[in-house]
Amino acid sequence: MHIDLIAGARPNFMKIAPIIKQINKAQSNGDKIYYRLIHTGQHYDKNMSSDFFDQLKIPSPDINLKAGGGTQAEQIAKIMIRYENVLKKFKPNFCLVVGDVNSTVACSIAAKSNNIKVIHVEGGIRSFDRSMPEENNRIITDSITDYFFTTSRTANENLLNCGIAEQKIFFVGNTMIDSLIDNKKNFTKPLFWNEKKLKKGDYFVVTLHRPSNVDSERGLKKILEAIVTNSKGLKIVFPAHPRTIKKIKLMKYNAKNLHIVDPMNYFDFNYLVQNSKAVVTDSGGVTEETTYLNIPCMTLRENTERPETITNGTNILLGLDLLSIKKAFTKLFNGEWKKGSIPELWDGKTSKRIIDTLLKIDPN
Ligand code: UD1
Repeated sequence: MHIDLIAGARPNFMKIAPIIKQINKAQSNGDKIYYRLIHTGQHYDKNMSSDFFDQLKIPSPDINLKAGGGTQAEQIAKIMIRYENVLKKFKPNFCLVVGDVNSTVACSIAAKSNNIKVIHVEGGIRSFDRSMPEENNRIITDSITDYFFTTSRTANENLLNCGIAEQKIFFVGNTMIDSLIDNKKNFTKPLFWNEKKLKKGDYFVVTLHRPSNVDSERGLKKILEAIVTNSKGLKIVFPAHPRTIKKIKLMKYNAKNLHIVDPMNYFDFNYLVQNSKAVVTDSGGVTEETTYLNIPCMTLRENTERPETITNGTNILLGLDLLSIKKAFTKLFNGEWKKGSIPELWDGKTSKRIIDTLLKIDPN
């Protein structure tokens, strides 16, 4: 069996790494399963891409499509054309995509148009918010996926509600958590830890990059002001995505306890999260990691495609009303944050379940 594994953007890398590890194990057990790793180039900065390859021990990509930048449509189109050219030279049996980024949808469309079966890892999750590019990417990808590997029972229900046949859906858990469990021992103090005099449980971590939160300078400034005002002077560390850094540079806002830093590597970032008092974020992946690490998490969005981080986990939705930031911080400082539990099958064995299932689907 030949599989193309697609990785293009930062949140893909931790989902792909444990799958590669599992394929290598299957190969050493004599299974005839082979892969090509295709990097689309959607994320290309060292700290958005190659640092993750190094730390997660992902081998160098077999092919790099170098299709970063541009508008969403330009990016998707570029990736589709370049991936199709790759498929002209060799057609695998399967194309495996993860998550919901532009690379996910672009490669699944190119594969499907070339009669290659599509496997979607993290299929079926839905925010039901069509203004998010990620939601459209999920829906389009799922509409042409042949085999779905899901992170929650809710995702299975969403797919069944779309008329997908039950035998195509496999609830296996979360490969992002496989990576977290596998690498927990390697988390390291970021270089700025001492310089900024950070102490365990005594600072906040903020990550924001969604267009709805960061594209308007005024909106972003209001969010930061609300966090700073309610933080009781505790330090706030904000590793900002390149798009957010661009905005912040244009905006004139400073606060003594707000520390804006460059995007961080995987080991440093998760050390920072694991030792924080709480996280404020608009990232879906971070809500999963905080749920696993049992760190209070406030999500600056009106909806989530990962409801288990709320029903089981430590996450709450703040919506877009800034007053809710105040209420959430009060709850936290009063020691009233809910206790979380780890969602079903988030046990570090998801990638094994995926590869075992694929070997049953295609035993050759
Ligand atoms: C993408 C994903 C989002 C994910 C996020 C995590 C989509 C639709 N969105 O958003 O779901 O949560 O990644 O990081 O795929 N840029 C750089 N350096 C890089 C990469 C990007 O400067 O290494 C710049 C781009 O040129 C662009 C901007 O950042 O101006 C946005 O990048 P893009 O890949 O379009 O989407 P993200 O916002 O990163």
